[in-house]
Amino acid sequence: MKQRKRNIALVVTVQAAAAFLFIAVALPARQTAPVPQSFKQEELVFKNFQAPTPTQPIPYSHKKHLALGLECKFCHVNPEPRTVMTFPATSKCMGCHATIAKDRPAIQKLAQFAKAQDPIPWVRVYKLPAFVHWRHSTHLDAGLKCEMCHGQVAQMEVMGQATVVTSMYGCVHCHEMFKTKTGCDTCHN
Ligand code: HEC
Ligand code: HEC
Ligand code: HEC
Ligand code: HEC
Ligand code: HEC
Repeated sequence: MKQRKRNIALVVTVQAAAAFLFIAVALPARQTAPVPQSFKQEELVFKNFQAPTPTQPIPYSHKKHLALGLECKFCHVNPEPRTVMTFPATSKCMGCHATIAKDRPAIQKLAQFAKAQDPIPWVRVYKLPAFVHWRHSTHLDAGLKCEMCHGQVAQMEVMGQATVVTSMYGCVHCHEMFKTKTGCDTCHN
């Protein structure tokens, strides 16, 4: 038993070392351009205006769940063709909620969606018209952070639109701050 514990400890150490090496070697190769001085986050954030927060089918709180140490990518990934981010499968929620807080009404509703294998009809917060050329991947590969466009998500009890990034002004103004393309054909046919 003791031997087995030691073996596990060894495996963990080797894995940690490998992960460290991977990070140390892989990061420099993937380095992205630094955020320019001309970028001013506050110019994308709503001032003196509280965008309405939609009522969701389940009262999910980013604040509560991010405080548990979960990362964005646990629930939101950017699969091929890398245009949109995904929403988490209900089974992902049930990984915890099969046991955690399972007697509360909101979690019982969650369990019903999971049992019926129905996706939860989340009300969308950030939404672009279809005629705009937009991809998450271009922006993520350029090293932009989720918070630049979506605000301080970890503080949000209820998700609401925090920035102007779904307006043409927001897109163009950020492109200006980054000194990147602003020609009409960048975002329109
Ligand atoms: C445990 C899962 C989970 C984690 C972790 C998580 N989210 Fe979410 N996210 C959701 C769910 C569920 C919704 C839909 C309900 C809502 O809008 O609150 C959502 C909605 C969103 C939306 C609104 C999308 C739209 O247009 O409707 C944004 C933006 C977002 N998340 C960003 C983030 C960021 C940034 C992080 C990391 C800081 C993060 N999320 C971490 C589950 C998660
Ligand atoms: C450069 C700005 C920008 C960055 C950076 C960004 N987003 Fe978004 N996000 C948007 C816009 C704009 C939309 C609306 C897209 C649409 O309607 O198709 C959106 C939509 C979403 C959605 C709804 C699903 C979708 O793709 O339409 C989620 C979830 C989301 N973002 C999460 C994230 C997470 C997590 C990160 C960081 C890994 C992130 N976003 C980084 C601008 C951004
Ligand atoms: C890593 C585990 C974990 C995951 C994954 C997770 N949750 Fe939670 N969730 C928690 C914990 C812990 C609490 C706080 C429970 C408490 O208040 O005692 C909580 C609380 C909640 C509550 C509030 C319950 C109430 O009425 O007090 C809701 C609603 C909820 N989660 C929905 C979700 C949804 C939807 C997902 C998937 C998008 C999800 N959770 C994924 C751990 C998790
Ligand atoms: C937070 C700053 C920021 C916001 C907000 C932003 N962008 Fe960008 N965008 C960039 C940067 C930086 C690049 C350059 C990436 C590169 O060159 O690798 C870029 C690149 C692009 C490209 C690729 C251009 C090309 O042909 O190489 C398109 C298309 C685009 N953005 C559309 C949009 C749209 C549409 C919006 C608004 C919905 C938007 N962007 C919002 C920073 C932003
Ligand atoms: C960086 C991306 C970006 C660039 C560059 C851009 N636009 Fe836009 N445009 C958008 C977005 C996003 C919308 C939708 C949101 C809105 O209406 O504010 C939009 C909406 C529009 C609309 C409204 C269409 C409608 O039916 O409501 C017109 C017209 C337009 N753009 C023309 C232009 C012209 C002309 C240029 C060049 C001078 C240009 N755009 C450059 C992102 C961009």
